[in-house]
Amino acid sequence: ALKMILDCDPGHDDAIALILAHGNPTVELLAVTTVHGNQTIDKVTRNALAVARIAGITGVPFAAGAHRPLVRVAETAPSIHGESGLDGPVLPEPTLVPDARHAVDLIIDTIMANEPNTVTLVPTGALTNIALAVRKEPRIAERVKEVVLMGGGYHVGNWSAAAEFNIVIDPEAAHIVFNEKWKLTMVGLDLTHQAIATPDVVAAIAAVGTAPARFVVELLAFFGQTYREAQGFEHPPVHDPCAVALVIDPTVMTVVRVPLDIELTGTLTLGMTVADFRSPAPADCTTYAATDLDHGKFWALIVDALERIGDP
Ligand code: BDR
Ligand code: CA
Repeated sequence: ALKMILDCDPGHDDAIALILAHGNPTVELLAVTTVHGNQTIDKVTRNALAVARIAGITGVPFAAGAHRPLVRVAETAPSIHGESGLDGPVLPEPTLVPDARHAVDLIIDTIMANEPNTVTLVPTGALTNIALAVRKEPRIAERVKEVVLMGGGYHVGNWSAAAEFNIVIDPEAAHIVFNEKWKLTMVGLDLTHQAIATPDVVAAIAAVGTAPARFVVELLAFFGQTYREAQGFEHPPVHDPCAVALVIDPTVMTVVRVPLDIELTGTLTLGMTVADFRSPAPADCTTYAATDLDHGKFWALIVDALERIGDP
């Protein structure tokens, strides 16, 4: 099984990432942790627990993490995700009770309790929890199998001309995470802007005909509208499940080895993920960037997860 920790800020696309991780038969979801981002930590944690109820996730610890970035003032994204962080569908009251530990401790405990090289860390929000975890317990850097994150982009930004939301809201945390000596793959906007929820994709999800599938259709309707109005997209790019999909099936996208670092001092480029495409990459380079998505394969994984989840 692919052991996974999902660190997220649900968030419409985070919710779909969680559903994919839960519904895919090869993933063993070890823990779900939340971080400030799309909305406040209280809201995104509540949203994560509501999604757990909808998708029938039980027996997995959920823990709340950092309420703000390391250095900067917290920034949320109501223009994309609404005031709740998950506007659109009506959310049920959560039934799961969150773990008493802080997300940072749950991440550390989970990685240290499992065999070396077996746990994949999948962050789909700001990197605050991950930075704090590796500073608190540096041994996780060599014990984790790899980090596969949604964030950044080597040719495109969305929260500024040069920077992506997850990175730019806590660039110092991102700098820590991108400079650790673990294997890190950036599934950035260059890739996720190919993961478009086209009308045929929405129809295939609706055809599953279950309550979780209807929930995803409602998420995509709201997300599609805000992406149209605020970002000028005809149909929405569904970022976060791309990172989960790469862990499940490496053939779902092309990945290149390339040095990556985070801009911390640029006036126009703060939070930019700078990729050095001069080749060859140095021998000690442990960072990778995703480039090309197999759109059909990706959405088939989402539909398959929903079919397996059924009506819990
Ligand atoms: C990222 O920002 C968030 O709003 C989404 O959930 C995704 O993780 C895209 O830039
Ligand atoms: Ca997210």
